[in-house]
Amino acid sequence: MALQIPVGSADYRTLARQRLPRFLFDYIDGGANDELTLAANTLDFHSLRLCQRVLHDVTQLDTSSQLFGRPLSMPLALAPLGMAGLYRRRGEVQAALAAEACGVPFALSSVGICPVQEIHAATTSPCWFQLYMLRDRGAVQAMLQQAWQLGCETLLFTVDLAVAGVRRRDTRNGMQAADRRGQLLRAWQLLQRPGWLLDVGLQGRPHRFGNLPQQVADPANLQAVRTWLDEQFDPGVTWQDIEWLRRQWPGQLVIKGVLEVDDALQAVACGADGIVLSNHGGRQLDSVPSTIRQLPAVATALNGRVPLLLDGGVRSGIDVFKALALGAQAVLIGRPWAWALAAEGQRGVEALLRSLHEELRVAMALCGVSALQDIGPHLLQPQSGITQLKVVEQLLKIGP
Ligand SMILES: Cc1cc2nc3c(=O)[nH]c(=O)nc-3n(C[C@H](O)[C@H](O)[C@H](O)COP(=O)(O)O)c2cc1C
Repeated sequence: MALQIPVGSADYRTLARQRLPRFLFDYIDGGANDELTLAANTLDFHSLRLCQRVLHDVTQLDTSSQLFGRPLSMPLALAPLGMAGLYRRRGEVQAALAAEACGVPFALSSVGICPVQEIHAATTSPCWFQLYMLRDRGAVQAMLQQAWQLGCETLLFTVDLAVAGVRRRDTRNGMQAADRRGQLLRAWQLLQRPGWLLDVGLQGRPHRFGNLPQQVADPANLQAVRTWLDEQFDPGVTWQDIEWLRRQWPGQLVIKGVLEVDDALQAVACGADGIVLSNHGGRQLDSVPSTIRQLPAVATALNGRVPLLLDGGVRSGIDVFKALALGAQAVLIGRPWAWALAAEGQRGVEALLRSLHEELRVAMALCGVSALQDIGPHLLQPQSGITQLKVVEQLLKIGP
């Protein structure tokens, strides 16, 4: 692989595995429990079949879009990923620069390494900011104020992490063990990756949660992170808090981590400006359905009232096309940008985004559509995979 040019998510995943210490690669790559939902997120995309349509004029292909008042080169954004500054030196800044160069939004995690000030200083486009609710509401207010003052207009409020999911790979890699055995195991994994130690371990400092008022000592110690999350994250958050947040945040408020129709409708009723249909990339409750499977029902229920975004399992431009066909306005990618960043830094994320863009364009051309609004369920084979579901049959009837 090292002597070839990486093409697409899978190649970057291979390179990331070669570069990252094992505990970090598995932290990114893994899912909850038996990883059934993690697998379903990608497999359900694979099960969808497109319609090849010919003899349409596709000379002018337009992938440009608008989301939350901003133009996008394609309907895609980089999902918030915690601790991306450990994947590559000052990783959030590198990814934000790549996103800016490719005309798509970058979402900064509240548990990112680089603070929002650092992203702001390095880029000219405002980033999105992601929030986990902390017990200390004063600290939340301070964080939001800072993000707003630095130009963030879109807030993703993540609601699918009332408690952290069960991540078995982290346990196997010694991440849940504070004892000597765990320390030795982690030290051994670090020693296997001298390139990472130099780039991130030494030159990528400081390793702090840049946006949080109180930090755990060392984010590379996932065991300490876990304990800290359990102490600080508020599992008592309810719909009333969304209303509270709505009053605090003057910008666009997007609820991330909704998977069921009723919750999507309630989010809109609480004043959400958008929804990210997400199961946290299969990292939280294992055995919930894939997001692409849930998409048609949620899209039908929302009926275009607010933008509906989807993440989970999007690995190619064809996947982007499929998500749009089933009713999403845009998608977020998580692991693919983490892998590309770990593999090749900013250059890798840019190359990944360009390849996704090109794949989307080719899919559009070969399905016979020139504009995003012409992508619909009529371009999916009715018998394919999840399109057998009743609700999709319904959608197919109302498609153009
Ligand atoms: C390593 C990793 C860290 C993540 N950290 C966060 C986070 O800090 N905040 C958040 O809202 N979601 C987080 N997520 C979930 C992603 O935003 C996104 O929902 C998910 O990665 C999408 O699935 P995909 O990885 O299959 O594209 C994380 C996901 C991964 C893989």
